Amino acid sequence: MRVALAYSGGLDTTVSIKWLQEKYNAEVITVTVDIGQPEDFEEVERRAYAAGAIKHYLIDGKARFAEEFVSRAIRANALYQGEYPVSTALARYQIAEEVAKIARAEGCDGVAHGCTGKGNDQLRFDATFAVFVPDMKVIAPVREWGMSRDEEIEYARSRGLKIDFVKSRFSIDENLWGRSLEAGELEDPWIEPPWEALKFVRPPAEWRDAEELVVEFERGVPVAVDGERMRLDVMIQQLNFRAGRHGLGLIDHIEDRVIGLKSREVYEAPAATVLIRAHRDLEKLVLSRRALAFKRHVEDEWSWLVYAGLWYDPLREALDAFIDETQRYVTGEVRMRLEKGALLVRGRRSPYSVYSEELITYSAASRFDQRAGEAFSRIWSLESQIFSRARRGVRSGL
Ligand code: ARG
Repeated sequence: MRVALAYSGGLDTTVSIKWLQEKYNAEVITVTVDIGQPEDFEEVERRAYAAGAIKHYLIDGKARFAEEFVSRAIRANALYQGEYPVSTALARYQIAEEVAKIARAEGCDGVAHGCTGKGNDQLRFDATFAVFVPDMKVIAPVREWGMSRDEEIEYARSRGLKIDFVKSRFSIDENLWGRSLEAGELEDPWIEPPWEALKFVRPPAEWRDAEELVVEFERGVPVAVDGERMRLDVMIQQLNFRAGRHGLGLIDHIEDRVIGLKSREVYEAPAATVLIRAHRDLEKLVLSRRALAFKRHVEDEWSWLVYAGLWYDPLREALDAFIDETQRYVTGEVRMRLEKGALLVRGRRSPYSVYSEELITYSAASRFDQRAGEAFSRIWSLESQIFSRARRGVRSGL
């Protein structure tokens, strides 16, 4: 058997290489996708071969991740349960697609991932494999073997694998769009995340002086910061550090996993926090009240589909079509202030702005004919009037 394994270079997937060889007598091809995690990819490759991989692939997926996945998430203001920017979730589809592609090209008859049986990630990998390589066997060693971390280390030792990983007390997953932390003391939802566990979000003693930041959007996608045009993946990397130095982007919440467990999740996502806030503000300047209200529902559904492993559901594409239509006019700039842990929107402008100073102004020169307000206002409460008249006998009080 020949298996392509989604390989992060961590303990689980490294032990998986050996285990796939022993349990399935498999030739293992490892695939690592760079989506912005701070990894020494040469070391990852060395580990893969040391564990017995017959071939290793490293794919640079940063630009695709930003353009295809993150830009959609920004247009969708995607925040699962109003908080989590679905960063880990989005990346899984791309990683799994790359693994499937290589599995096909290498003539594999199996694909493998390192997800547990308790999380959401298995749903994202399994769905992608089922869509792209339905003929191949899907193997999830960690889900099958039931080893604890210590047992994995023992297994690795007994097979002569050098385990020289620095053991973090946390389970960390990082990509361009966010850094997720779980496990360790974070499993107690009352214990606050320790500053030293955080990478981008800095403690108050290290906060920078307040500064202004201007984000420019074209059709709902950020294209420039402070007048400087740049690729989205580069912009995100810069903003993670820049906004993090003002204490922005820490998300600590109780999340409902798909399988029905509640999980305490800590995320660092300064760029996502800034860009979604700016994007949402600009939308208010150019979209109608009804479009804005309806889009909120679309955003919630979009975020849920991405979270729940349903990226390939036709509904996601249909929602993206709706979102794309709304984004035709989401072009303009948002001026923000980063100040002592606060993110403040301070101004916005757009060539498609439907804000009319001429109509809204308090000054006497307004073009608005206020006499029309009298009839409008009387009719506006018509239902309330009719109902209260009909129920007068029933209601007590007044
Ligand atoms: N709860 C998030 C999700 O399902 C993030 C999981 C991140 N994994 C981790 N090992 N920290 O998308």
